[in-house]
Amino acid sequence: MKTELLEFENKHKLLEPTSTERVATLEAISEYTENFLGNIDTLPAFVNNVSEKAPFIQSINFEEQNTLNEVLKNIRLYIDTPGINPASGGHLGYIPGGGLFYGAVGDYLACITNRYAGVRFASPGAVLLEETVLNWMANLFGYSKNYGGTLTSGGSIANLTAIATARDAINLKAKDYHKAVIYTTQYAHHCLQKSIRILGMDDVQWREIECNNLYQMNVEELEKAINKDLNNGFLPWLLVASAGTTDVGAIDPLQQLSEISKKYNLWFHVDAAYGGFFILTNKGKQLLKGIEQADSIVADPHKGLFIPYGLGAVLIKNKKLLHKTHQYLANYMQDASTEKVDLSPADLSPELSRHFRALRLWLPLKIHGEKPFENYLNEKMQLATYCYQQLSNLPDVEVFNKPELSVFAFRFLHKELPLDKYNEKIQKAVMNDGRVFISSTRLNNCYVLRIAILSFRTHLSTIETALTVLDKSKKIAEDELYQELRNN
Ligand SMILES: Cc1ncc(COP(=O)(O)O)c(C=O)c1O
Repeated sequence: MKTELLEFENKHKLLEPTSTERVATLEAISEYTENFLGNIDTLPAFVNNVSEKAPFIQSINFEEQNTLNEVLKNIRLYIDTPGINPASGGHLGYIPGGGLFYGAVGDYLACITNRYAGVRFASPGAVLLEETVLNWMANLFGYSKNYGGTLTSGGSIANLTAIATARDAINLKAKDYHKAVIYTTQYAHHCLQKSIRILGMDDVQWREIECNNLYQMNVEELEKAINKDLNNGFLPWLLVASAGTTDVGAIDPLQQLSEISKKYNLWFHVDAAYGGFFILTNKGKQLLKGIEQADSIVADPHKGLFIPYGLGAVLIKNKKLLHKTHQYLANYMQDASTEKVDLSPADLSPELSRHFRALRLWLPLKIHGEKPFENYLNEKMQLATYCYQQLSNLPDVEVFNKPELSVFAFRFLHKELPLDKYNEKIQKAVMNDGRVFISSTRLNNCYVLRIAILSFRTHLSTIETALTVLDKSKKIAEDELYQELRNN
């Protein structure tokens, strides 16, 4: 038996590279990432040649061993080339991602030491660090010490966590779901509807309140809807405001909405996944006034703080309520549950074992300090204004909103061509060009283009390139559409 066990041990050493191998691996990785980052300004923001066949990465045969060089070559070819390049400043679509270097380094450290960030006694330091970054956020958003929070993989799970907490806050049970009412707008992010479905709450009443011409919730319409629901025996439950809609970056009137939520005893949730961290800027502080009144706030560091994908955050004003939804008891966790006074992340989130996410945020903050984040966010808002001005000066452009934060929508006009098709073709032509990437949405029943500026690598030269690419794409779209019309 002992011999057999020693044999196992020797074989399993294969999973533990030697120090020399580790150093050589890090050198190769460093060469790879340096090549990537060193060329990031010239790498395309979008590459259209989606290859159906990527044998190396599709193979489910893991019998063979491969060299790191071979692996990296294939990662470059099949993973880091096709599609959107979220690390590029030219990514101006959807909500652009970040990718701060020290965020990646934080992950590397977290993964090597593999600290267990779920339970305080298992890794008191990791838990403290999570609390530190959450405290920093709570302070930014004007929350008091009684708040509770958790770091999530992103905005969708953060919103889900908040909605589950809001449900339990009033002990809402399945038999009453059909009476409970959610108030939001058509511009709320789709993850909220997804959350409701995942929570098994499809039966709740969903009211999309009309917006004003700035795409913000109309407060009078909201109050009317609440009163109507009360008169009809419904239970007004949850008010979901957006602080930066995905479509146009609009911020609902938070202050007024908070007053309504108090008046009618609604849970006031603010989805600030995109817009939240603009609170670091003076303009953002003004725009987000009232957010401190929210019962729950979602803000995504992997958006507004430029952290690599995989970091959202939810803050709940009353920690006890976050705990109420996520508390647990299990015999095999008895060692961990001796200290319920100082709650652990696992007591406040759906997760038990979890990635030590705090390090990927704390490290960049600690190394760069807070100021560069503020400067970059100011830059993004000004770039959006500049780009908006340049486009709105063009005679053939219709703009749909002046950027409140750093997103706006517009479309090109044409005397003869169908506008939806024309703009769709422009978007495709921009993708084919690849120097920048922009996405589209629908507003007022029109297909519109969007520019969303949030990458820390987007600067004035990127916007100038975007304007050039749009101009070129317009001509391509026009030629193609005329050609199609001739052919039909
Ligand atoms: C306003 C808003 N809320 C929520 C989300 C969902 O966040 P995530 O993609 O991190 O799950 C997004 C994503 O873009 C968003 O813009």
